[in-house]
Amino acid sequence: MRFSSIVPLAFGLLTLQNGFVNALPQATSTTLDPAPTVPALPDNYETLAAVEKKDLIWDRIQGTSNSSQNWNGIAESAWLLATLPPRPPFDMASDVMVPGRKKFIRNRGAHALVKLVPTEAAKQYTGIWATGAQNGLIRLTTLDEPPSNPKPEDIVIAPGGSIKFWRDGIPSTNLFFIYSLEGQTSWNYFENPCSNHLAPPKELKTKVGKKFNQRVSHYSEMTGTSDLAKFTADGKPVPQPKAPFQIWLVPAAGLKANPPPLTPETASANFASHFSAIPEGSTIYSIWAIPEPQSPYKVDTVYHPETLPNATHIADVVSESKFTPSYYGDAHLHFKHTSFDSDLELRPEWREIVRSVRD
Ligand SMILES: *[C@@H]1O[C@H](CO)[C@@H](O)[C@H](O)[C@H]1NC(C)=O
Ligand SMILES: *[C@@H]1O[C@H](CO)[C@@H](O)[C@H](O)[C@H]1NC(C)=O
Repeated sequence: MRFSSIVPLAFGLLTLQNGFVNALPQATSTTLDPAPTVPALPDNYETLAAVEKKDLIWDRIQGTSNSSQNWNGIAESAWLLATLPPRPPFDMASDVMVPGRKKFIRNRGAHALVKLVPTEAAKQYTGIWATGAQNGLIRLTTLDEPPSNPKPEDIVIAPGGSIKFWRDGIPSTNLFFIYSLEGQTSWNYFENPCSNHLAPPKELKTKVGKKFNQRVSHYSEMTGTSDLAKFTADGKPVPQPKAPFQIWLVPAAGLKANPPPLTPETASANFASHFSAIPEGSTIYSIWAIPEPQSPYKVDTVYHPETLPNATHIADVVSESKFTPSYYGDAHLHFKHTSFDSDLELRPEWREIVRSVRD
């Protein structure tokens, strides 16, 4: 993929996805011409009920559903990389990007409404983990433009994405998940489980990228789960929040067997439309979780959670609409990241365990 050669510094690191790295306002060279215009959100947006905020965003997504943002070009990527602002995706609790900023990677996605349906095992956790959520939106992406003429051993896509859950009267909360930093050679988007904790980089270029990302968070291959535990979907704070240490999103068997038909000929031009055949009402992912770090703590394998002794199936992510491309989702929708540091605020004893293995 393009980034593996030209911007190794930023290759696929989890903290860079979905808007972490936004350009400064001059980055207009690859917006659609003319860029679809969408009405601004009301000033009292954050104070509204979750369902109202969902409807406002979904209207804008549907209103731009026939277009995706252009893939970032090489020169633009280099420029975006050079002008990274350090922390907005972690600090800015907003559903809308800063005007004029552009997602640096993962800037094309397929969007669908989803709900989170918890299992009995989720009752050990709090907030949205325990109760589930009716008002969610999933955005499925790949790292960057898929190649049109790959060799069999080439990486072709790097599946990953985010899920936003709206909450009454307070900002939304978001989950992030990726298969691996390096991506995969298979075109099957649903081939592998994704997780919020990734194995550390193995190659020199991703190791260099890690140092770069550690400007933002020491735990640059991890995002947190605690924000979902801290409030219920109706916006009430939870007195003693409890969140899983690590989660995996395991693709539904039916989707894995019958994935979006991405091919070298079509994946670049129509990445997001390939997901449109997935019916509303489908389970997209089952979420598996471990409550504590494994003993001993290990990170060097891409685990399949069903093989882990203490992993349980805690929820399903079920689609409530069809998937659609959306210029609004690509160019404007923002997903504030939860850093692993905020999980450590609830569970400081995890720090030493994680640091014993991750540098
Ligand atoms: C998208 O294209 C379809 C088919 O041309 C059309 O019916 C629909 O109105 C378009 N939607 C938008 C939001 O432009
Ligand atoms: C599973 O959980 C138990 C109870 O907390 C713990 O003692 C054990 O070490 C865990 N196993 C692994 C592999 O983490």
